[in-house]
Amino acid sequence: MTANAVRKTTHHASQPANDSHPATAPERERREIYSSVHKGLRSCMSQALVGLGQVDASSDESVDGALAAVTELLQLCREHLDHENRFLHTAMEQAVPGSAARCAADHQHHLKTIAELEARLSAAQADGGPTRERALKVLYRLLAIFVAENFQHMEVEESENTSLLWAHCSDDDIRAIEHAIHAHIKPERMMVWLRWMLPAVSRQQRAEMLKGMRAGMPPEAFAAVLDMIQPHLSQSARHALVEDLG
Ligand SMILES: [Fe+2]
Repeated sequence: MTANAVRKTTHHASQPANDSHPATAPERERREIYSSVHKGLRSCMSQALVGLGQVDASSDESVDGALAAVTELLQLCREHLDHENRFLHTAMEQAVPGSAARCAADHQHHLKTIAELEARLSAAQADGGPTRERALKVLYRLLAIFVAENFQHMEVEESENTSLLWAHCSDDDIRAIEHAIHAHIKPERMMVWLRWMLPAVSRQQRAEMLKGMRAGMPPEAFAAVLDMIQPHLSQSARHALVEDLG
């Protein structure tokens, strides 16, 4: 087994591969650019996959709901790949030429898979009767593979890419990348991202994100964000948020 094969094999083990992960490097907390967005994506991927597994092929309403969740997920994935390619990979390549190559290749593969999933999704929407049930089963299994690949890919980003960014960028540099991504996202799409990110993060991350937003946006817009996420929070999370936001 080559060293690279060992690295790949051990990398996908049951714990984060990178010693620079904050869980094992408590000396100073650094800015983690992937954390919140990847939690949101993991939540969206998981819910879309579970929903597709539960779908009642005899019910148009059930099928439409499950396929709409997959459609939303695939759109988020396309946008996320673009954000990473455009902003994060550019910063990585400036720091260390070639450092984004592995993840860029993964992204190319993901784009191809997303196109295949969209074609399967269209087929499932168009099919009726027994063929629809078959199309849904195929879509479910292909989506499961896509989700598994993305979970592994996100771990590479959160360990290896984060280490590289921490070695070559200050926290202010990393925040500047975040701000550039946020400025690039249209307001209506930002609401969709927030719908998935805010419920998926920790209490502390949620409070920090919302306090930052409250400081930088009109009160009506902030109230709209709070209204939007309420149905997606548990009762205890809602109470905690009221406490944290004062
Ligand atoms: Fe990525």
